[in-house]
Formats: sequence, C-alpha cells, structure tokens
Amino acid sequence: MVGEQFNHKYHLVQFIDSGSFGGVFLANEVIADRVIRQVALKIFLVETSQLDLQIAELRLATRLKHPHLLDCFSSEVGFEDEEDEEEKYLGLAMEPATESLSQYLAKRETLPPQEVRNIIGQIASALVFLHSQNIVHRDLKPENILRVGEVWKVADFGISRVLTQGTSTKTTQQIGTPVYQPPESYQGEIRPGWDVWSLGILLQQMLTGKHPFSANTITGPELMMKVMMQEPEFPEGLSDDFLTIVKGCLVKNPKERWTAQQVLDAVKPRVSSSRDTLSSIADLDLSSERAGINYYKLRDLLAAKKWKDADRETAERMWEVMGRQKEEWLGVEDIKKFPCKDLKIIDKLWVHYSQGKFGFSVQKKIWEECGSPTEYNDDWERFGEAVGWREGEAVGWRWAFRRSWMSYQSVVDSPKEASLPTTIWVGLLMEVARCAYSSLAQRLVNCSK
Ligand SMILES: Nc1ncnc2c1ncn2[C@@H]1O[C@H](COP(=O)(O)OP(=O)(O)OP(=O)(O)O)[C@@H](O)[C@H]1O
Ligand SMILES: [Mg+2]
Repeated sequence: MVGEQFNHKYHLVQFIDSGSFGGVFLANEVIADRVIRQVALKIFLVETSQLDLQIAELRLATRLKHPHLLDCFSSEVGFEDEEDEEEKYLGLAMEPATESLSQYLAKRETLPPQEVRNIIGQIASALVFLHSQNIVHRDLKPENILRVGEVWKVADFGISRVLTQGTSTKTTQQIGTPVYQPPESYQGEIRPGWDVWSLGILLQQMLTGKHPFSANTITGPELMMKVMMQEPEFPEGLSDDFLTIVKGCLVKNPKERWTAQQVLDAVKPRVSSSRDTLSSIADLDLSSERAGINYYKLRDLLAAKKWKDADRETAERMWEVMGRQKEEWLGVEDIKKFPCKDLKIIDKLWVHYSQGKFGFSVQKKIWEECGSPTEYNDDWERFGEAVGWREGEAVGWRWAFRRSWMSYQSVVDSPKEASLPTTIWVGLLMEVARCAYSSLAQRLVNCSK
C-alpha cells in the first residue's frame, strides 16, 4: 500500500504498524499537489451497509477535543476504485505520534514514580473528559497511549464503539484486551469503571513491570477466572499511596470502584511547589485567548532547547495576539492589554524548560531587585548587566574596556543569565523599550493577582 493514494487527499508514505482491525500508515495530506502536513492514517475495512453509521461514529472521534486525547482530524473513505461492493475502506486521519507507551515501556523495565504519576495524571484527565461525554473507551492499553512530544495522549477513543456495531466477523470481535479487561466486561457490562480498572493495571505495570493477575504468564479462561474471582497480587515495594490508588481501581464491583476523577486527584502533587512540575506543564492549556493562536510550537522549540527559534516564536505569537505582525513591535498600550492567559503560558513554558533561567518573570524579578527602573539611569544599566543584555568591549588604542548594550542579535546568538526572551523588544527604541519593559513587569504583577 505504501506509495499508493488512499484517496485524493491522503497519500501513504510509510507503514507504521498493524492492529487487530487494520493498519496505521504515515500519510501526506495533499491539497492541489502540495503536501500540507503529515498525518497518521488508520485504515480498516467495514461493511458497506454499516458505512454511514460508522462514518458518523468516526466523526464523533474527530469532534472530541482534549489536550490528552489524540487529535483526530477527519474520517475518510478510500481505495474507491476497488471493486468490492460488500466492504469499503475507512480511514481516520490523526496527529502522528512519536511513539506508543508500549514502545516506551519496552525500552525500560519500570518507570520512576514521578513519571508514572505524570503519565497516569494525563491519561486520567482524558478519561474524566471522555466519561463526562458518556463515552467508555474500553480498550485502554499501552498501544493506545501515544506520546506526542512530551505529552501523553489517549488514542482510539470512540472507535471501539464503532467496531462493536458492525455485524461481520471482523467487527463483532471481542472488544478490549483481556489483560486490561475488568470482571464485569465478561458479562457484557459497560460502565466508565471499565477504563479505571484498565488504568489501575497500567499503573502497576508501569511501576513494577508486573501484572496484578499474573497476566504476563496466563491467558484465556484462566485469566478470566482470576480476574473475576481472585484478589489482585501486589508486588512488594509498591508505596502506600500507589497501593491505595491501584486498590481503588481494582475494586471488583464497578459501582464501588474509584472514578477517573479520584485517580486524577490522587496523583496530583500534594504540595504545589513554586517550580512547575512536568505534569502541570503537560496539563497546561496551550491555546491563546485569541482564536486560532496557540503555543504548541513554542513548547516544542523550548523542549528541544532551541532558544533562538523559541525567542523568535515568542515574539511572533505576541505580535500576532495583538495584531502587530506587520509592525513587529508592541507598544505600551498593547502590553497593558496583553491577555493574562497568554502571558502566563509563555512565561511558564520558558521558566519550565530553561529550569528557571529564562522567562519574563525571571527578568521581572531581576528588574525589581535593580530598583524597578522606568527611565535611563544607573539602575537601568545595572538591570541590563544583570539580565545579560550588556557586554564589555575593547575601545581605543589602549584596549580599554567599556560596558555597552549588546545588539538583539548578539543576545540571541549567545544567551546568558536571564537574557531571553528578548526579540519581543527588537523593534523598539531604547527609550520606548524601558517604558514598555516596566509596563510588561506591571502586567505580570497584575496578571498574577
Ligand atoms: N497516530 C499514531 N501515530 C503513530 N503511531 C500510531 C498512531 N496510531 C496508532 N499507532 C501505532 O500503530 C499501531 C497499530 O495501531 P492500532 O490502533 O491499529 O492497533 P493497536 O492499538 O495495536 O491494537 P487494537 O487494534 O487492538 O486497537 C499501534 O501499536 C500504535 O502504537
Ligand atoms: Mg490502537
């Protein structure tokens, strides 16, 4: 199939992997002969009589949006020239992921507790959302948890629902994966608690590499009996707080089992530290208050420590937010009105990924320590020194040294102390920059109230 066109819009470029219902390909999305983006295209066969119903179900997947649900772009029909009247190929275009949790776990025997908390928190928040929409995933397993950059996302939500509605042998296949299936699933009972059970199994698996019902070694009816009748086995060394969560998830009666919200509350850090934790960054909503603008690219650049590009991206998004892309500067009035939500996102991302070195709030603190200068004076120069915007240069024939302001370019090329972000000030004269700087500092203060 690689090299073929699924339909006029999607051209298959690489096979990723197969599952029990079909395969996933990397595909180019092509419009007017131009590649717009790469997507992951999941392809499976469905009965023609079920087509409309199933497209409608896939559309549901494309409508569900949450930071920890894999983004599904569109549902498609493909290979239309194939002469089969009975069955059709359906496709679901989604954001391509870096790897699955199953691949991630294959490289490590177990994960450190903090990372497990972080991953479970992200999955639980997706489940809280799905359950609020009356959707039970029913196939939560490491293959369906995908990493996109640093964010973990749940995939294949809604699709298991689609697949149960078909009548052919392909579509009436047992839903769920036995290892992660709760007792009531064997009686065909579907409740949100199904997913919470799977989450509990996943939690123990990530922490210890061991399954609570020895499912690393047993399968079929033996596993079913154990899941339905026996108490789970908890390996030694599972800390009390994790044990409480796993036990809450593995209560046999689904009505008494914990909810996804309870799991989420339990894995959240108890003491909120002043430093942002990875999980709070992962939970950060990265969309701007202005429609159509977001900070995903900024996050990815910062995560890759591409400071120069991240600095440019920061400036471009901030100009865009205030409709100043053409001018490429922000005036004092713009800064006074700059949305708090956006300023907080930008600052959190910078502070987090630079481990407290860069960011507007870091600069602001230094600015305050230097006496909060609003005009050109010694304090402003001291601030410039401390923040890393000034340097020494040799002057005159005696090689005397003089301190002076660096060009924006040289700040960006060799960032030091707290010198970033800086490009946002690039179009401003020094006079204006000082005024603008103090208004940004003031805006940060107001936004944190
Ligand atoms: N958007 C994606 N980006 C990258 N890889 C993906 C994406 N979606 C799925 N995959 C990978 O492709 C493989 C096949 O996925 P698929 O959903 O068809 O099967 P599965 O999840 O392994 O099993 P099942 O069919 O039981 O759901 C998975 O192992 C998954 O890791
Ligand atoms: Mg899958």
